[in-house]
Amino acid sequence: MHPEALLAQRLARAFETVVGAAVDPMVRRSQHADYQADGALAAARRLKSNPREIATRIAEQAALDDLCSTVEVSGPGFINLTVRDDVLVQLVVDVVHADRLGVDTPATPETVVVDYSAPNVAKEMHAGHLRSTIIGDAAVRLLEWLGHTVIRQNHVGDWGTPFGMLIEHLLDLGEDEAAHELSIGDLNGFYRAARIKFDDSDEFKERARRRVVSLQRGDAETLRLWQLLIGESQKYFMTVYGQLGVRLTATDFAGESAYNDDLAPVVAELEDLGLAKESDGALCVFPDGFSGREGEPLPLIVRKRDGGYGYASTDLAAIRHRLRSLEAARLLYVVGSPQHQHLEMIFQAAREAGWLTPPARAEHVAHGSVLGKDGKMLRSRAGRSVRLIDLLDEAVTRAIAVVSDKNPHLEGATQQAVARAVGIGAVKYADLSTDRNKDYILDYDRMLSFDGNTGPYLQYAHARIRSIFRRAGIEPPDVVGQVVITDPAERSLAFAVLEFARVIGEVEQSMQFHSLAGYLFELATAFTGFYERCPVLRAEAPVRDSRLVLCALTASILATGLGLLGIEVPDQL
Ligand code: ARG
Repeated sequence: MHPEALLAQRLARAFETVVGAAVDPMVRRSQHADYQADGALAAARRLKSNPREIATRIAEQAALDDLCSTVEVSGPGFINLTVRDDVLVQLVVDVVHADRLGVDTPATPETVVVDYSAPNVAKEMHAGHLRSTIIGDAAVRLLEWLGHTVIRQNHVGDWGTPFGMLIEHLLDLGEDEAAHELSIGDLNGFYRAARIKFDDSDEFKERARRRVVSLQRGDAETLRLWQLLIGESQKYFMTVYGQLGVRLTATDFAGESAYNDDLAPVVAELEDLGLAKESDGALCVFPDGFSGREGEPLPLIVRKRDGGYGYASTDLAAIRHRLRSLEAARLLYVVGSPQHQHLEMIFQAAREAGWLTPPARAEHVAHGSVLGKDGKMLRSRAGRSVRLIDLLDEAVTRAIAVVSDKNPHLEGATQQAVARAVGIGAVKYADLSTDRNKDYILDYDRMLSFDGNTGPYLQYAHARIRSIFRRAGIEPPDVVGQVVITDPAERSLAFAVLEFARVIGEVEQSMQFHSLAGYLFELATAFTGFYERCPVLRAEAPVRDSRLVLCALTASILATGLGLLGIEVPDQL
Protein backbone atom coordinates (compact mmCIF):
# COMPACT_ATOMS: atom_id res chain seq x y z
CA MET A 1 0.00 0.00 0.00
CA HIS A 2 1.09 3.53 -0.66
CA PRO A 3 1.53 5.98 2.28
CA GLU A 4 -0.61 8.51 0.44
CA ALA A 5 -3.53 6.09 0.41
CA LEU A 6 -3.08 5.28 4.11
CA LEU A 7 -3.05 8.96 5.04
CA ALA A 8 -5.99 9.82 2.81
CA GLN A 9 -8.04 7.01 4.34
CA ARG A 10 -7.33 8.11 7.87
CA LEU A 11 -7.90 11.82 7.17
CA ALA A 12 -11.15 11.12 5.33
CA ARG A 13 -12.49 9.45 8.48
CA ALA A 14 -11.41 12.44 10.58
CA PHE A 15 -13.18 14.85 8.23
CA GLU A 16 -16.30 12.73 8.39
CA THR A 17 -16.30 13.03 12.18
CA VAL A 18 -15.40 16.70 12.44
CA VAL A 19 -17.41 18.06 9.51
CA GLY A 20 -20.22 15.54 9.61
CA ALA A 21 -19.96 14.92 5.87
CA ALA A 22 -17.57 13.34 3.38
CA VAL A 23 -14.74 15.69 2.44
CA ASP A 24 -11.89 14.87 0.09
CA PRO A 25 -8.77 15.30 2.27
CA MET A 26 -6.81 16.23 -0.90
CA VAL A 27 -3.51 14.61 0.01
CA ARG A 28 -0.69 15.38 -2.40
CA ARG A 29 3.10 15.40 -2.54
CA SER A 30 4.59 18.52 -1.01
CA GLN A 31 7.84 20.42 -1.06
CA HIS A 32 7.66 21.25 2.63
CA ALA A 33 7.01 17.75 3.94
CA ASP A 34 6.29 14.38 2.33
CA TYR A 35 2.65 15.26 1.80
CA GLN A 36 0.19 18.00 2.44
CA ALA A 37 -3.56 17.72 2.88
CA ASP A 38 -5.61 20.71 1.67
CA GLY A 39 -9.09 19.44 2.48
CA ALA A 40 -9.55 21.77 5.48
CA LEU A 41 -9.89 24.79 3.19
CA ALA A 42 -12.94 23.43 1.41
CA ALA A 43 -14.36 22.13 4.69
CA ALA A 44 -13.96 25.55 6.32
CA ARG A 45 -15.80 27.26 3.46
CA ARG A 46 -18.60 24.82 3.93
CA LEU A 47 -18.80 25.32 7.72
CA LYS A 48 -18.06 29.06 7.38
CA SER A 49 -15.31 28.78 9.95
CA ASN A 50 -11.56 29.30 10.22
CA PRO A 51 -9.59 26.84 8.03
CA ARG A 52 -6.58 26.72 10.34
CA GLU A 53 -8.85 25.82 13.22
CA ILE A 54 -10.50 23.06 11.18
CA ALA A 55 -7.09 21.79 10.08
CA THR A 56 -5.96 21.62 13.70
CA ARG A 57 -9.06 19.73 14.74
CA ILE A 58 -8.70 17.31 11.82
CA ALA A 59 -5.05 16.69 12.68
CA GLU A 60 -5.99 15.94 16.29
CA GLN A 61 -8.92 13.76 15.36
CA ALA A 62 -6.89 11.74 12.84
CA ALA A 63 -4.23 10.91 15.47
CA LEU A 64 -1.57 10.15 12.91
CA ASP A 65 1.27 9.44 15.36
CA ASP A 66 1.52 5.85 14.22
CA LEU A 67 2.04 6.96 10.59
CA CYS A 68 3.74 10.33 10.79
CA SER A 69 6.77 11.73 12.58
CA THR A 70 5.46 15.28 12.22
CA VAL A 71 2.02 16.72 11.53
CA GLU A 72 1.92 20.50 11.17
CA VAL A 73 -0.74 22.98 10.26
CA SER A 74 0.73 25.64 8.00
CA GLY A 75 -0.26 28.56 5.80
CA PRO A 76 -3.98 29.19 5.44
CA GLY A 77 -4.80 25.68 6.70
CA PHE A 78 -2.71 23.02 5.02
CA ILE A 79 -1.75 19.96 7.01
CA ASN A 80 1.90 19.05 6.37
CA LEU A 81 2.69 15.39 6.88
CA THR A 82 6.01 13.63 7.24
CA VAL A 83 5.83 9.85 7.14
CA ARG A 84 7.69 7.91 9.85
CA ASP A 85 10.78 6.10 8.58
CA ASP A 86 9.71 2.82 10.17
CA VAL A 87 6.35 3.05 8.38
CA LEU A 88 8.08 3.64 5.08
CA VAL A 89 10.41 0.72 5.74
CA GLN A 90 7.51 -1.58 6.54
CA LEU A 91 5.70 -0.63 3.33
CA VAL A 92 8.84 -1.29 1.28
CA VAL A 93 9.32 -4.64 3.00
CA ASP A 94 5.70 -5.51 2.15
CA VAL A 95 6.50 -4.91 -1.53
CA VAL A 96 9.62 -7.09 -1.30
CA HIS A 97 7.51 -9.96 -0.01
CA ALA A 98 4.50 -9.30 -2.23
CA ASP A 99 3.93 -11.47 -5.27
CA ARG A 100 3.82 -8.91 -7.99
CA LEU A 101 5.62 -5.89 -6.62
CA GLY A 102 2.61 -4.99 -4.56
CA VAL A 103 0.19 -4.80 -7.46
CA ASP A 104 -3.15 -6.40 -6.57
CA THR A 105 -4.86 -8.75 -8.96
CA PRO A 106 -8.29 -7.52 -10.04
CA ALA A 107 -11.16 -8.60 -7.80
CA THR A 108 -13.07 -9.80 -10.85
CA PRO A 109 -10.87 -10.77 -13.79
CA GLU A 110 -12.61 -9.93 -17.05
CA THR A 111 -12.58 -11.07 -20.63
CA VAL A 112 -11.16 -8.17 -22.62
CA VAL A 113 -11.10 -7.96 -26.41
CA VAL A 114 -8.29 -5.80 -27.76
CA ASP A 115 -8.75 -4.73 -31.38
CA TYR A 116 -5.41 -3.45 -32.63
CA SER A 117 -2.92 -3.23 -35.47
CA ALA A 118 -5.51 -3.94 -38.20
CA PRO A 119 -3.50 -3.22 -41.35
CA ASN A 120 -5.07 -3.60 -44.78
CA VAL A 121 -4.25 -6.51 -47.08
CA ALA A 122 -2.17 -5.64 -50.14
CA LYS A 123 -1.49 -2.20 -48.70
CA GLU A 124 1.59 -1.07 -46.85
CA MET A 125 1.25 -0.76 -43.09
CA HIS A 126 1.71 2.87 -42.20
CA ALA A 127 2.80 4.70 -39.08
CA GLY A 128 -0.80 4.68 -37.79
CA HIS A 129 -0.72 0.90 -37.77
CA LEU A 130 2.60 1.11 -35.94
CA ARG A 131 1.05 3.15 -33.15
CA SER A 132 -1.96 0.88 -32.91
CA THR A 133 0.29 -2.20 -32.79
CA ILE A 134 2.58 -0.78 -30.10
CA ILE A 135 -0.19 0.60 -27.88
CA GLY A 136 -2.35 -2.50 -28.36
CA ASP A 137 0.56 -4.75 -27.45
CA ALA A 138 1.15 -2.80 -24.23
CA ALA A 139 -2.55 -3.09 -23.40
CA VAL A 140 -2.45 -6.84 -23.96
CA ARG A 141 0.66 -7.28 -21.83
CA LEU A 142 -0.67 -5.19 -18.97
CA LEU A 143 -4.10 -6.82 -18.89
CA GLU A 144 -2.67 -10.33 -19.14
CA TRP A 145 -0.15 -9.63 -16.40
CA LEU A 146 -2.96 -8.44 -14.15
CA GLY A 147 -4.81 -11.70 -14.72
CA HIS A 148 -7.51 -10.74 -17.20
CA THR A 149 -8.40 -13.01 -20.10
CA VAL A 150 -7.35 -11.16 -23.20
CA ILE A 151 -8.59 -11.92 -26.70
CA ARG A 152 -6.51 -10.25 -29.39
CA GLN A 153 -8.36 -9.34 -32.56
CA ASN A 154 -6.49 -8.14 -35.60
CA HIS A 155 -9.32 -6.57 -37.61
CA VAL A 156 -7.40 -6.72 -40.88
CA GLY A 157 -8.94 -5.02 -43.91
CA ASP A 158 -9.21 -8.10 -46.10
CA TRP A 159 -12.48 -7.60 -47.99
CA GLY A 160 -14.21 -5.12 -50.23
CA THR A 161 -14.26 -3.72 -53.76
CA PRO A 162 -10.49 -3.08 -54.14
CA PHE A 163 -10.02 -6.85 -54.21
CA GLY A 164 -11.50 -6.97 -57.71
CA MET A 165 -8.67 -4.90 -59.14
CA LEU A 166 -6.06 -6.52 -56.90
CA ILE A 167 -6.97 -10.02 -58.07
CA GLU A 168 -6.99 -8.99 -61.74
CA HIS A 169 -3.59 -7.37 -61.30
CA LEU A 170 -2.36 -10.54 -59.65
CA LEU A 171 -3.52 -12.54 -62.68
CA ASP A 172 -1.80 -10.12 -65.05
CA LEU A 173 1.48 -10.48 -63.19
CA GLY A 174 1.23 -14.24 -62.84
CA GLU A 175 0.78 -15.87 -59.47
CA ASP A 176 4.46 -16.48 -58.78
CA GLU A 177 5.61 -12.98 -59.56
CA ALA A 178 2.70 -11.50 -57.56
CA ALA A 179 3.51 -13.70 -54.56
CA HIS A 180 7.12 -12.56 -54.76
CA GLU A 181 6.26 -8.85 -54.81
CA LEU A 182 3.87 -9.22 -51.94
CA SER A 183 6.10 -11.29 -49.71
CA ILE A 184 9.07 -8.92 -49.96
CA GLY A 185 6.73 -6.27 -48.73
CA ASP A 186 6.39 -4.16 -51.85
CA LEU A 187 2.75 -3.75 -51.03
CA ASN A 188 2.44 -0.14 -52.05
CA GLY A 189 3.97 -0.88 -55.44
CA PHE A 190 1.48 -3.68 -55.99
CA TYR A 191 -1.49 -1.60 -54.95
CA ARG A 192 -0.43 1.43 -56.95
CA ALA A 193 0.10 -0.57 -60.12
CA ALA A 194 -3.36 -2.07 -59.80
CA ARG A 195 -4.86 1.35 -59.16
CA ILE A 196 -3.18 2.91 -62.20
CA LYS A 197 -4.56 0.21 -64.50
CA PHE A 198 -7.96 0.62 -62.92
CA ASP A 199 -7.96 4.36 -63.58
CA ASP A 200 -6.51 4.10 -67.10
CA SER A 201 -8.17 1.11 -68.69
CA ASP A 202 -11.90 0.57 -69.13
CA GLU A 203 -11.26 -3.03 -70.01
CA PHE A 204 -9.39 -3.58 -66.70
CA LYS A 205 -12.02 -1.70 -64.76
CA GLU A 206 -14.72 -3.97 -66.20
CA ARG A 207 -12.72 -7.10 -65.36
CA ALA A 208 -12.20 -5.80 -61.81
CA ARG A 209 -15.92 -5.13 -61.42
CA ARG A 210 -16.84 -8.63 -62.59
CA ARG A 211 -14.22 -10.06 -60.24
CA VAL A 212 -15.80 -8.33 -57.24
CA VAL A 213 -19.11 -9.96 -58.15
CA SER A 214 -17.45 -13.41 -58.36
CA LEU A 215 -15.75 -12.81 -55.04
CA GLN A 216 -19.01 -11.90 -53.35
CA ARG A 217 -20.72 -14.92 -54.90
CA GLY A 218 -18.03 -17.15 -53.44
CA ASP A 219 -16.67 -18.39 -56.77
CA ALA A 220 -14.06 -21.03 -55.85
CA GLU A 221 -11.27 -19.92 -58.19
CA THR A 222 -11.71 -16.26 -57.18
CA LEU A 223 -11.61 -17.20 -53.52
CA ARG A 224 -8.41 -19.13 -54.11
CA LEU A 225 -6.76 -16.05 -55.69
CA TRP A 226 -8.08 -13.83 -52.88
CA GLN A 227 -6.65 -16.28 -50.37
CA LEU A 228 -3.29 -16.00 -52.08
CA LEU A 229 -3.30 -12.24 -51.62
CA ILE A 230 -4.28 -12.59 -47.98
CA GLY A 231 -1.70 -15.27 -47.29
CA GLU A 232 1.20 -13.30 -48.75
CA SER A 233 0.18 -10.10 -46.96
CA GLN A 234 -0.18 -11.97 -43.69
CA LYS A 235 3.30 -13.37 -44.05
CA TYR A 236 4.58 -9.85 -44.51
CA PHE A 237 2.65 -8.52 -41.51
CA MET A 238 4.09 -11.34 -39.44
CA THR A 239 7.66 -10.28 -40.33
CA VAL A 240 6.87 -6.76 -39.14
CA TYR A 241 5.37 -8.14 -35.90
CA GLY A 242 8.44 -10.34 -35.49
CA GLN A 243 10.78 -7.39 -35.87
CA LEU A 244 8.67 -5.38 -33.41
CA GLY A 245 8.46 -8.23 -30.91
CA VAL A 246 4.74 -7.98 -30.25
CA ARG A 247 2.42 -10.70 -29.02
CA LEU A 248 0.21 -10.73 -32.13
CA THR A 249 0.16 -14.14 -33.76
CA ALA A 250 -1.31 -15.64 -36.90
CA THR A 251 -4.24 -16.98 -34.87
CA ASP A 252 -5.23 -13.45 -33.86
CA PHE A 253 -6.17 -12.49 -37.41
CA ALA A 254 -9.90 -11.84 -37.38
CA GLY A 255 -10.24 -9.80 -40.53
CA GLU A 256 -13.28 -8.09 -41.94
CA SER A 257 -14.02 -11.15 -44.11
CA ALA A 258 -14.49 -13.25 -40.96
CA TYR A 259 -17.89 -11.58 -40.52
CA ASN A 260 -19.22 -12.17 -44.05
CA ASP A 261 -21.76 -14.78 -42.96
CA ASP A 262 -22.94 -12.58 -40.09
CA LEU A 263 -23.69 -9.49 -42.14
CA ALA A 264 -27.15 -10.42 -43.45
CA PRO A 265 -28.36 -11.74 -40.05
CA VAL A 266 -27.01 -8.65 -38.26
CA VAL A 267 -28.81 -6.35 -40.67
CA ALA A 268 -31.99 -8.42 -40.34
CA GLU A 269 -31.76 -8.13 -36.57
CA LEU A 270 -31.35 -4.36 -36.78
CA GLU A 271 -34.40 -4.21 -39.06
CA ASP A 272 -36.47 -6.35 -36.70
CA LEU A 273 -35.53 -4.05 -33.84
CA GLY A 274 -36.75 -1.12 -35.91
CA LEU A 275 -33.30 0.46 -35.85
CA ALA A 276 -32.47 0.18 -39.57
CA LYS A 277 -34.32 2.47 -41.97
CA GLU A 278 -34.26 3.11 -45.73
CA SER A 279 -32.53 6.34 -46.64
CA ASP A 280 -31.66 7.29 -50.23
CA GLY A 281 -31.96 3.66 -51.25
CA ALA A 282 -29.48 2.51 -48.61
CA LEU A 283 -30.33 0.90 -45.30
CA CYS A 284 -29.11 3.00 -42.37
CA VAL A 285 -29.02 3.08 -38.59
CA PHE A 286 -29.14 6.53 -37.01
CA PRO A 287 -27.64 6.16 -33.54
CA ASP A 288 -28.83 8.69 -30.96
CA GLY A 289 -26.71 11.73 -30.31
CA PHE A 290 -24.92 12.10 -33.65
CA SER A 291 -25.78 14.87 -36.03
CA GLY A 292 -24.16 16.68 -38.91
CA ARG A 293 -23.60 20.39 -39.48
CA GLU A 294 -27.23 21.13 -40.21
CA GLY A 295 -28.39 19.08 -37.26
CA GLU A 296 -29.41 16.20 -39.52
CA PRO A 297 -29.03 12.75 -37.93
CA LEU A 298 -25.89 10.92 -39.06
CA PRO A 299 -26.22 7.46 -40.58
CA LEU A 300 -24.25 4.27 -40.24
CA ILE A 301 -24.78 2.65 -43.63
CA VAL A 302 -25.55 -0.99 -42.88
CA ARG A 303 -26.42 -2.00 -46.45
CA LYS A 304 -25.42 0.00 -49.47
CA ARG A 305 -27.77 0.86 -52.31
CA ASP A 306 -26.25 -1.94 -54.44
CA GLY A 307 -26.94 -4.46 -51.67
CA GLY A 308 -23.28 -4.62 -50.59
CA TYR A 309 -21.97 -4.24 -47.09
CA GLY A 310 -19.23 -1.86 -45.94
CA TYR A 311 -16.98 -0.92 -43.04
CA ALA A 312 -19.86 -0.05 -40.68
CA SER A 313 -21.74 -3.31 -41.28
CA THR A 314 -18.59 -5.28 -40.53
CA ASP A 315 -17.92 -3.35 -37.34
CA LEU A 316 -21.49 -3.96 -36.18
CA ALA A 317 -21.11 -7.67 -36.82
CA ALA A 318 -17.74 -7.62 -35.03
CA ILE A 319 -19.05 -5.89 -31.91
CA ARG A 320 -22.01 -8.26 -31.71
CA HIS A 321 -19.67 -11.25 -32.05
CA ARG A 322 -17.33 -9.90 -29.36
CA LEU A 323 -20.15 -9.37 -26.90
CA ARG A 324 -22.34 -12.37 -27.66
CA SER A 325 -19.97 -15.12 -28.70
CA LEU A 326 -16.71 -14.08 -27.07
CA GLU A 327 -18.67 -12.80 -24.04
CA ALA A 328 -16.27 -9.94 -23.47
CA ALA A 329 -16.89 -7.47 -20.66
CA ARG A 330 -14.53 -4.83 -21.97
CA LEU A 331 -13.86 -3.95 -25.59
CA LEU A 332 -10.82 -1.87 -26.47
CA TYR A 333 -10.42 -0.40 -29.95
CA VAL A 334 -6.88 0.84 -30.46
CA VAL A 335 -7.51 2.95 -33.54
CA GLY A 336 -6.45 6.42 -34.73
CA SER A 337 -8.45 9.43 -33.58
CA PRO A 338 -9.96 10.18 -37.02
CA GLN A 339 -12.18 7.13 -36.55
CA HIS A 340 -13.53 8.37 -33.23
CA GLN A 341 -16.99 9.29 -34.45
CA HIS A 342 -17.35 6.10 -36.46
CA LEU A 343 -16.52 3.97 -33.41
CA GLU A 344 -18.71 5.96 -31.03
CA MET A 345 -21.59 5.49 -33.48
CA ILE A 346 -20.93 1.74 -33.59
CA PHE A 347 -20.92 1.62 -29.76
CA GLN A 348 -24.16 3.59 -29.55
CA ALA A 349 -25.85 1.40 -32.18
CA ALA A 350 -24.72 -1.67 -30.21
CA ARG A 351 -26.28 -0.19 -27.06
CA GLU A 352 -29.54 0.50 -28.85
CA ALA A 353 -29.56 -3.03 -30.24
CA GLY A 354 -29.17 -4.37 -26.68
CA TRP A 355 -25.82 -6.03 -27.38
CA LEU A 356 -23.72 -3.63 -25.36
CA THR A 357 -25.19 -3.52 -21.87
CA PRO A 358 -23.49 -2.73 -18.56
CA PRO A 359 -21.26 -3.92 -17.03
CA ALA A 360 -19.91 -4.52 -20.55
CA ARG A 361 -18.34 -1.42 -22.03
CA ALA A 362 -16.54 -0.35 -25.18
CA GLU A 363 -13.70 2.16 -25.29
CA HIS A 364 -11.95 3.86 -28.14
CA VAL A 365 -8.27 3.85 -27.18
CA ALA A 366 -7.53 6.65 -29.63
CA HIS A 367 -4.14 7.74 -30.82
CA GLY A 368 -2.71 10.63 -32.82
CA SER A 369 -0.30 10.46 -35.75
CA VAL A 370 3.42 10.10 -36.18
CA LEU A 371 4.86 13.17 -37.86
CA GLY A 372 8.08 13.84 -39.74
CA LYS A 373 10.52 16.52 -38.62
CA ASP A 374 8.64 19.03 -40.75
CA GLY A 375 5.61 18.50 -38.53
CA LYS A 376 3.63 16.93 -41.38
CA MET A 377 2.50 13.34 -41.80
CA LEU A 378 5.51 11.05 -41.92
CA ARG A 379 6.68 10.61 -45.52
CA SER A 380 9.78 9.22 -47.17
CA ARG A 381 12.02 11.44 -49.28
CA ALA A 382 10.18 10.34 -52.39
CA GLY A 383 7.00 11.62 -50.78
CA ARG A 384 5.56 8.17 -50.25
CA SER A 385 4.46 6.86 -46.91
CA VAL A 386 7.33 5.34 -44.94
CA ARG A 387 7.41 1.57 -44.87
CA LEU A 388 7.17 0.40 -41.30
CA ILE A 389 9.81 -2.24 -41.69
CA ASP A 390 12.27 0.39 -43.00
CA LEU A 391 11.54 2.63 -40.06
CA LEU A 392 12.30 -0.20 -37.63
CA ASP A 393 15.44 -1.28 -39.49
CA GLU A 394 16.69 2.29 -39.43
CA ALA A 395 16.20 2.48 -35.67
CA VAL A 396 18.14 -0.76 -35.16
CA THR A 397 20.95 0.32 -37.49
CA ARG A 398 21.34 3.60 -35.66
CA ALA A 399 21.20 1.76 -32.33
CA ILE A 400 24.25 -0.31 -33.32
CA ALA A 401 26.28 2.90 -33.55
CA VAL A 402 24.88 4.23 -30.28
CA VAL A 403 25.50 0.96 -28.44
CA SER A 404 29.06 0.42 -29.68
CA ASP A 405 29.83 3.99 -28.73
CA LYS A 406 28.53 3.47 -25.21
CA ASN A 407 30.12 0.10 -24.66
CA PRO A 408 32.88 -0.93 -27.08
CA HIS A 409 33.31 -4.22 -25.21
CA LEU A 410 30.04 -5.63 -26.49
CA GLU A 411 30.63 -7.63 -29.64
CA GLY A 412 29.09 -9.89 -32.23
CA ALA A 413 25.78 -11.51 -31.43
CA THR A 414 25.52 -9.83 -28.02
CA GLN A 415 25.98 -6.41 -29.60
CA GLN A 416 23.38 -7.25 -32.25
CA ALA A 417 20.87 -8.39 -29.66
CA VAL A 418 21.45 -5.33 -27.48
CA ALA A 419 21.18 -2.98 -30.46
CA ARG A 420 17.92 -4.60 -31.46
CA ALA A 421 16.52 -4.23 -27.95
CA VAL A 422 17.68 -0.60 -27.82
CA GLY A 423 16.49 0.35 -31.32
CA ILE A 424 13.06 -1.26 -31.12
CA GLY A 425 12.74 -0.23 -27.48
CA ALA A 426 13.47 3.37 -28.42
CA VAL A 427 10.73 3.39 -31.07
CA LYS A 428 8.22 1.87 -28.66
CA TYR A 429 9.18 4.12 -25.77
CA ALA A 430 9.00 7.27 -27.89
CA ASP A 431 5.47 6.26 -28.79
CA LEU A 432 4.28 5.12 -25.38
CA SER A 433 5.81 7.99 -23.43
CA THR A 434 3.71 10.60 -25.23
CA ASP A 435 0.07 11.14 -24.46
CA ARG A 436 -1.49 8.80 -27.00
CA ASN A 437 -4.07 11.37 -28.04
CA LYS A 438 -1.33 13.67 -29.26
CA ASP A 439 0.77 13.53 -32.41
CA TYR A 440 4.52 13.20 -32.05
CA ILE A 441 7.53 13.79 -34.22
CA LEU A 442 9.66 10.81 -35.17
CA ASP A 443 13.18 11.86 -34.20
CA TYR A 444 15.75 9.05 -34.16
CA ASP A 445 18.43 11.15 -32.45
CA ARG A 446 16.16 12.10 -29.60
CA MET A 447 14.60 8.68 -29.09
CA LEU A 448 18.04 6.99 -29.12
CA SER A 449 19.61 9.44 -26.68
CA PHE A 450 20.80 8.20 -23.30
CA ASP A 451 19.69 11.45 -21.70
CA GLY A 452 16.16 12.37 -20.80
CA ASN A 453 12.92 10.47 -20.86
CA THR A 454 13.93 7.83 -23.42
CA GLY A 455 13.97 4.06 -23.77
CA PRO A 456 17.77 3.80 -23.77
CA TYR A 457 18.01 5.91 -20.58
CA LEU A 458 15.72 3.49 -18.75
CA GLN A 459 17.38 0.40 -20.19
CA TYR A 460 20.71 1.85 -19.11
CA ALA A 461 19.44 2.59 -15.60
CA HIS A 462 18.35 -1.03 -15.34
CA ALA A 463 21.62 -2.40 -16.74
CA ARG A 464 23.58 -0.27 -14.29
CA ILE A 465 21.80 -1.86 -11.35
CA ARG A 466 22.40 -5.29 -12.84
CA SER A 467 26.10 -4.50 -12.97
CA ILE A 468 26.10 -3.72 -9.24
CA PHE A 469 24.91 -7.27 -8.64
CA ARG A 470 27.44 -8.69 -11.06
CA ARG A 471 30.22 -6.92 -9.20
CA ALA A 472 28.87 -8.10 -5.85
CA GLY A 473 28.66 -11.65 -7.18
CA ILE A 474 25.10 -12.11 -5.95
CA GLU A 475 21.68 -12.34 -7.48
CA PRO A 476 18.66 -10.36 -6.25
CA PRO A 477 16.75 -13.38 -4.89
CA ASP A 478 19.62 -13.91 -2.43
CA VAL A 479 19.38 -10.36 -1.20
CA VAL A 480 17.72 -10.48 2.14
CA GLY A 481 18.26 -7.84 4.64
CA GLN A 482 16.61 -5.33 6.83
CA VAL A 483 15.69 -2.16 5.09
CA VAL A 484 17.07 0.89 6.87
CA ILE A 485 16.59 4.44 5.79
CA THR A 486 19.43 6.79 6.63
CA ASP A 487 19.59 9.26 3.77
CA PRO A 488 16.98 11.54 2.16
CA ALA A 489 17.83 9.97 -1.22
CA GLU A 490 16.84 6.56 0.18
CA ARG A 491 13.55 8.02 1.36
CA SER A 492 12.85 9.44 -2.11
CA LEU A 493 13.65 6.13 -3.73
CA ALA A 494 11.40 4.31 -1.25
CA PHE A 495 8.50 6.63 -2.09
CA ALA A 496 9.08 6.08 -5.81
CA VAL A 497 9.11 2.29 -5.36
CA LEU A 498 5.81 2.41 -3.48
CA GLU A 499 4.18 4.39 -6.28
CA PHE A 500 4.27 1.51 -8.81
CA ALA A 501 1.05 -0.25 -7.78
CA ARG A 502 -0.99 2.95 -7.92
CA VAL A 503 0.29 3.85 -11.39
CA ILE A 504 -0.50 0.38 -12.72
CA GLY A 505 -4.02 0.57 -11.32
CA GLU A 506 -4.55 3.90 -13.05
CA VAL A 507 -3.19 2.77 -16.41
CA GLU A 508 -5.31 -0.37 -16.31
CA GLN A 509 -8.32 1.95 -16.52
CA SER A 510 -7.01 4.84 -18.61
CA MET A 511 -4.81 2.99 -21.10
CA GLN A 512 -2.56 6.07 -20.88
CA PHE A 513 0.80 4.40 -21.02
CA HIS A 514 2.69 7.67 -20.80
CA SER A 515 1.78 7.68 -17.09
CA LEU A 516 3.64 4.41 -16.67
CA ALA A 517 6.54 5.65 -18.80
CA GLY A 518 6.71 8.92 -16.83
CA TYR A 519 6.65 6.99 -13.58
CA LEU A 520 9.50 4.69 -14.65
CA PHE A 521 11.49 7.76 -15.62
CA GLU A 522 10.90 9.27 -12.16
CA LEU A 523 11.91 6.00 -10.52
CA ALA A 524 15.12 5.89 -12.56
CA THR A 525 15.79 9.52 -11.66
CA ALA A 526 15.24 8.80 -7.96
CA PHE A 527 17.61 5.87 -8.31
CA THR A 528 20.27 8.05 -9.90
CA GLY A 529 19.97 10.49 -6.99
CA PHE A 530 20.28 7.62 -4.54
CA TYR A 531 23.26 6.07 -6.32
CA GLU A 532 25.13 9.36 -6.38
CA ARG A 533 24.77 9.91 -2.65
CA CYS A 534 24.64 6.43 -1.20
CA PRO A 535 27.51 4.00 -1.78
CA VAL A 536 26.13 0.48 -2.06
CA LEU A 537 28.93 -2.07 -2.21
CA ARG A 538 31.29 0.06 -0.15
CA ALA A 539 28.77 0.49 2.67
CA GLU A 540 28.95 -1.46 5.95
CA ALA A 541 26.89 -4.58 6.55
CA PRO A 542 23.33 -3.63 7.51
CA VAL A 543 23.29 -0.53 5.30
CA ARG A 544 24.87 -2.39 2.39
CA ASP A 545 22.21 -5.12 2.51
CA SER A 546 19.45 -2.58 2.79
CA ARG A 547 20.76 -0.67 -0.21
CA LEU A 548 21.01 -3.89 -2.19
CA VAL A 549 17.36 -4.55 -1.42
CA LEU A 550 16.47 -1.11 -2.77
CA CYS A 551 18.59 -1.77 -5.86
CA ALA A 552 16.91 -5.13 -6.46
CA LEU A 553 13.45 -3.64 -6.10
CA THR A 554 14.21 -0.79 -8.45
CA ALA A 555 15.66 -3.13 -11.07
CA SER A 556 12.70 -5.42 -10.86
CA ILE A 557 10.17 -2.59 -11.18
CA LEU A 558 12.06 -1.17 -14.16
CA ALA A 559 12.22 -4.58 -15.84
CA THR A 560 8.57 -5.33 -15.14
CA GLY A 561 7.37 -1.87 -16.15
CA LEU A 562 9.36 -1.81 -19.37
CA GLY A 563 8.26 -5.39 -20.03
CA LEU A 564 4.64 -4.27 -19.79
CA LEU A 565 5.44 -1.66 -22.43
CA GLY A 566 6.87 -4.45 -24.60
CA ILE A 567 10.43 -3.21 -24.13
CA GLU A 568 13.29 -5.63 -23.51
CA VAL A 569 15.86 -5.01 -20.81
CA PRO A 570 19.35 -6.27 -21.71
CA ASP A 571 21.53 -7.21 -18.75
CA GLN A 572 24.33 -5.00 -19.96
CA LEU A 573 24.50 -2.06 -22.23
N1 ARG B 1 -8.20 -1.39 -41.11
C1 ARG B 1 -8.57 -0.13 -40.53
C2 ARG B 1 -7.62 0.98 -41.02
O1 ARG B 1 -6.54 0.69 -41.51
C3 ARG B 1 -8.55 -0.14 -39.02
C4 ARG B 1 -9.55 -1.07 -38.35
C5 ARG B 1 -9.78 -0.71 -36.92
N2 ARG B 1 -10.70 -1.61 -36.23
C6 ARG B 1 -12.00 -1.61 -36.38
N3 ARG B 1 -12.72 -2.50 -35.72
N4 ARG B 1 -12.62 -0.76 -37.15
O2 ARG B 1 -7.97 2.13 -40.92
